[in-house]
Amino acid sequence: MIDYKKLAGEKISSLIPYQPGKPIKELERELGVKEAIKLASNENPLGVSKKVIQAVTEALHEMNRYPLGDAFYLRQELSRFLDVPPHQIIFGTGSNEIIELAIRTFVKEGEHVLSYAPSFSVYGIIAQAAGSFCKWVPTKDRFKVDFNKLKEAVENSTRIVFLANPNNPTGVYFSEEELVDFLNYIPKETIVILDEAYVEYVDAPDFPDSLKLLKKYPNLIIMRTFSKAYGLAGFRIGYAIGHPDAIDMLNRVRQPFNVNMVAQIAAIAALEDREFVRNSIKINREGKAYLYKQFKELGLDYIETQANFILVNVGDGKDVFDRLLKEGVIVRFLGPTLKEYIRVSIGTPQENEVFITKLKKILNKG
Ligand SMILES: Cc1ncc(COP(=O)(O)O)c(C=O)c1O
Repeated sequence: MIDYKKLAGEKISSLIPYQPGKPIKELERELGVKEAIKLASNENPLGVSKKVIQAVTEALHEMNRYPLGDAFYLRQELSRFLDVPPHQIIFGTGSNEIIELAIRTFVKEGEHVLSYAPSFSVYGIIAQAAGSFCKWVPTKDRFKVDFNKLKEAVENSTRIVFLANPNNPTGVYFSEEELVDFLNYIPKETIVILDEAYVEYVDAPDFPDSLKLLKKYPNLIIMRTFSKAYGLAGFRIGYAIGHPDAIDMLNRVRQPFNVNMVAQIAAIAALEDREFVRNSIKINREGKAYLYKQFKELGLDYIETQANFILVNVGDGKDVFDRLLKEGVIVRFLGPTLKEYIRVSIGTPQENEVFITKLKKILNKG
């Protein structure tokens, strides 16, 4: 018998795969229900912009061709939108791919990555799959990033520090002052990847203006995505902005046709449809206010969020998660380290109401 575990080696066989949110169709099939709602993966509840659907539909007949390897038109469009030179941008199949590219490009043998916990588990999974590891530094009270501890944790062999801002799964953010202080402290050859997947939803006035900081800190790379406010999670497209030399190195590792053409076309149309993005942000802001109010009335402690989801303390997270599932509502339970919590993505007003109704029923507060 061939022993694939042995062939893959300990680093791979001990990996715990990323657990995605349960798909709606799967839950509906299991429960035999029709109207299940998914508030589990921080997706855009407004669906896909009509302009995106139109642009993609029109382009489908050209899909016998390879995509533009350099995402030429999208690059131009995004460069104008962000006011960043085109050669400082790289695209990936979701920002997930950028995480992988960065680790494969820059983390050499004996080096590792650093982040704070709880945060996006993918940093650790990809690091381990690449033969390295992620050192996790605990957060402070109410999941605030502990920059003193992060500073202490930086070693010569720390090649990349991943800082999600706002963070997933907590929704907590750190300020420009905190970031600048950290950037001034760390060695020039330690790369800081700011993961701004939820940046469009932020309304905190002291949130970092990261694009401005790029000029001063060549070791800074900013990562963003079309999966959230732009509503393109299924297309898989994200990007990073950084020093031209950093982007050049990442480009050497990137597969030549990594981002498919449908995704490129979808992203151009999504960038142009400002109305859709504005609406997504508005719905999120209103949903957040509604859920905060409901949680307060229910006496539930929640973590203030700058993103499109809320971490809420329900006592027994796994139990509430399981019971919500049976009611046709998919949220997220985040495992033993956050056992009192569930994470709920902010949905449409109607989805939010259904969630609250079911939650009240489960907590006997109806
Ligand atoms: C903090 C964070 N970074 C990155 C991603 C990855 O996004 P994508 O690969 O869809 O661009 C997510 C997705 O949920 C996230 O929460």
